[in-house]
Amino acid sequence: MEALTGKVALVTGGGSGLGRAGALALAGAGAHVLVSDVREASARETADTIQRAGRVAQASVADAGRAEDAARLVEEATREFGALHVLYNNAGVAWPGRDGFTPDIDPATWDEVIRINLSSVFYCAHAAIPAIAAAGGGAIINTASSMARLPLGGLDAYAASKGGVALLTQSLAPGCGRLGIRVNAICPGYVDTPMNALIWGNDALKQAFARGHATGLQTPEEIAELVVFLASEASRSLTGAVLACDGGWTAFKQPPI
Ligand SMILES: NC(=O)c1ccc[n+]([C@@H]2O[C@H](COP(=O)([O-])OP(=O)(O)OC[C@H]3O[C@@H](n4cnc5c(N)ncnc54)[C@H](O)[C@@H]3O)[C@@H](O)[C@H]2O)c1
Repeated sequence: MEALTGKVALVTGGGSGLGRAGALALAGAGAHVLVSDVREASARETADTIQRAGRVAQASVADAGRAEDAARLVEEATREFGALHVLYNNAGVAWPGRDGFTPDIDPATWDEVIRINLSSVFYCAHAAIPAIAAAGGGAIINTASSMARLPLGGLDAYAASKGGVALLTQSLAPGCGRLGIRVNAICPGYVDTPMNALIWGNDALKQAFARGHATGLQTPEEIAELVVFLASEASRSLTGAVLACDGGWTAFKQPPI
């Protein structure tokens, strides 16, 4: 039996980067996965890849930062697969240029970053917690960031949204514990995904960021392995944890860039 045999997982932002790798890894561990993304083609591509590997997945288009979409996703997962056990709150945006130093940020940009990165976690958890409890318990994995622990400055809305995700995770854990649900947050460093195209496209920046990770540049697959661990019984003693899975980036205290 695999670690997640018989489990059902919902992944937001599953069409790219960490969410795509996480959806593949959860399915690879035996879960049935509802892959959602605001971009339809991306969600479908991930679900198709899972199906081609002989695993079970469906795609669903949804904006995780809208309460009605979050409720629909939970309803779809439960209807398609009979239950919901795992919620991987991954959808997020980083907008260098639009986000920045607070006096320079258009308030509409602030609202949108908070809506997509933080309110989505609330909306999806709000809808999923009763369903996961009804299924007998499970796990929620929230995506914070190394920026929740060590902001670089210059991406104020993003840092605040991720700090909120970390604190919401800790605040949710006691209440969820009573329902048999564990809630943890992951704080990746700088991972090779489309979100970081600006860094990976610039050799000097890429080298600087690489030096900041004691274990080297991070891949989506290594974070996905942690997501599977947090979704599975192997992590049964972990809840309310805000995990620095950043290759040592925050251990340096001062970012080396
Ligand atoms: N890449 C990194 O270095 C890094 C580090 C720390 C945290 N994170 C976080 O990990 C998560 C995934 O990032 P990534 O690097 O894979 O980015 P990415 O841009 O590769 O993928 C993000 C996905 O989320 C989707 N998305 C955006 N807004 C959405 C919404 N409102 N509803 C549903 N889906 C939406 C996008 O369409 C995309 O498919 C984000 O929350 C990000 O903040 C990333």
